[in-house]
Amino acid sequence: MNEYYDSNNNGKSFDVRWSVKKDISGMLDVERKSSDNPWTEDIFHQYLTERTSIMMVAHSEKEYNEVLGFMVYELCKGKINLVNLAVDPNFRREGIGSIMIHKLKSKLSENRRKEIFFNIRESNRGGQLFLKNQEFKAIGIYGKYYEDTGEDAYHMSYKIDENDAIQNRISKYFLRH
Ligand SMILES: CC(C)(COP(=O)(O)OP(=O)(O)OC[C@H]1O[C@@H](n2cnc3c(N)ncnc32)[C@H](O)[C@@H]1OP(=O)(O)O)[C@@H](O)C(=O)NCCC(=O)NCCS
Repeated sequence: MNEYYDSNNNGKSFDVRWSVKKDISGMLDVERKSSDNPWTEDIFHQYLTERTSIMMVAHSEKEYNEVLGFMVYELCKGKINLVNLAVDPNFRREGIGSIMIHKLKSKLSENRRKEIFFNIRESNRGGQLFLKNQEFKAIGIYGKYYEDTGEDAYHMSYKIDENDAIQNRISKYFLRH
């Protein structure tokens, strides 16, 4: 069963759903428009088949198959590693990135996975401001982390707080009933 999260922004509704193989071309398109060093199709295939990785796509309520954004994350012991997140440039600043992060935060719980981590390029100021808006904090720097440019990575983290945990329990209750 798919879980949905809806947002209504200026009259537009967006959902996030699990990705399937046929979404790869859409994700690739968004990735190529979003990065100077885009992931290849092979990388998307690898993550799709990896048991501990999850890929989700954002789409408008009306166009279920049109990929407007995507995120890829790994479920690890005690934490979630967000490994990629991008939104089609034509649909940015409409809340789609926030919806995906909200979805990711809903996976956290006080007794299982409490933290989300993400590494971001030091040059990606827009991405950093977005993460700050999502209450992520920079907790470290990995020097010369990116081989292509020699750039540093900022190690960002979002930690669940008690209120999130209670809210997640309440949403789960309502999803079940
Ligand atoms: C970063 C990214 C995912 C944001 O997606 P988005 O759908 O545009 O984000 P949202 O609309 O949910 O933005 C929420 C808030 O984050 C902040 N924000 C988002 N992008 C920003 C930017 N480029 N510059 C400054 N602040 C930004 C704003 O406060 C924004 O609220 P506002 O539009 O009301 O001012 C998107 O710009 C993207 O795909 N960038 C390229 C890929 C990338 O950098 N990936 C790493 C992600 S951290």
